[in-house]
Amino acid sequence: MLRDPFYDPGKSYEENYGKGPFGAFRNPEKYQNKGEPEYDFLGNKVYLPFGIPAGPLLNGRFVKAALDSGFDIAVYKTVRTGAYPCNAFPNVVAVDLDGDLTLEQAKKGIISKGDYEAPLSITNSFGVPSTDPEIWQKDLEEAVKYAGAGQVVVGSFQGTKKGDGNVNAFVADFVLGARLVKETGAKILEVNFSCPNEGTAHLMCFDIGMVRRVSEAIKNEIGNTPLIIKIAYYEDQEALKKLISDVGSIIDGISAINTIGSAVRKKNGEQALPGEGRLVSGVCGQAIKWAGLEMTGRLRNLRDELGMKFAIVGVGGVSGAEDFKKYHEAGADAVMSATGAMWNPMLAQEIKKEL
Ligand SMILES: Cc1cc2nc3c(=O)[nH]c(=O)nc-3n(C[C@H](O)[C@H](O)[C@H](O)COP(=O)(O)O)c2cc1C
Repeated sequence: MLRDPFYDPGKSYEENYGKGPFGAFRNPEKYQNKGEPEYDFLGNKVYLPFGIPAGPLLNGRFVKAALDSGFDIAVYKTVRTGAYPCNAFPNVVAVDLDGDLTLEQAKKGIISKGDYEAPLSITNSFGVPSTDPEIWQKDLEEAVKYAGAGQVVVGSFQGTKKGDGNVNAFVADFVLGARLVKETGAKILEVNFSCPNEGTAHLMCFDIGMVRRVSEAIKNEIGNTPLIIKIAYYEDQEALKKLISDVGSIIDGISAINTIGSAVRKKNGEQALPGEGRLVSGVCGQAIKWAGLEMTGRLRNLRDELGMKFAIVGVGGVSGAEDFKKYHEAGADAVMSATGAMWNPMLAQEIKKEL
């Protein structure tokens, strides 16, 4: 069942940022956990290793509402080292997919639709907007402190390419982002290597040399603070194996998957999201669950095969307790839901009740 979403797709990003969250996140009753938190997530005790990944929690108010509502891991939406604008409205649109979004279908393109119905899949396209660090650092610091016993807030960030394409400056920007997030007191950092909504054809997570270089540089900066890398679905198993061989011992966790990119058109053939570079946008929700589950299993197998220890965060299409269990069985140390949680702010409480 879909409830009123805590991010209102009918309103602009700015209005959501300024006036949200909405729905049951508006004035949530504080969920009371029973007993002691028993799960470990990268050195932090949590009641249930379940949360909301980078994206729907736009700022501290959203993070606090998620924590109050029983999500024990809350990721603050990806920030940058300087202010950055949001893509034009709309930023969230439902897509017409009944079953799985296969890779063949994703390559062909898909159709948007007007209604949000279960089982829900959407496309989202924000372009990773950010406020200046002086705004988000203070806000994130407060959100980090708000986490109660058995809860943890993760700070997500990414680097910004400068116009001249200088690679050293790009790497340095990731390192600065990591330092600024660490300064807020965040106990876990996540670097986004997989944003499909920036108009770049190639995702950074597929450039294994860069992933390694940037991960090493970030770890040199943040020391023992755990670092998660957020990656997309890898089609090529040999490439995934190389990624894990090259970076699996440098980083502390891998979050997979981000959205799957596809050209999204209206029924009449028009581009669904307005503006240049926005024909292809990221699809998420139930139609990508197969891909998140499959990646979780492949990451677990590679971790075992290569004798590594990184934590696996399973993401994609989670909308109930059954999905949580499937991800857990596939090898996820933590499970997260973006689309499912947006349209069901009670999701964590429901999963806790059903397990
Ligand atoms: C509204 C929205 C905004 C998102 N923004 C980000 C982001 O800023 N950084 C990021 O790493 N992933 C972002 N994502 C991707 C999610 O973290 C997640 O990987 C993806 O949506 C798949 O999960 P789902 O099927 O539960 O939605 C966003 C997703 C949504 C729905």
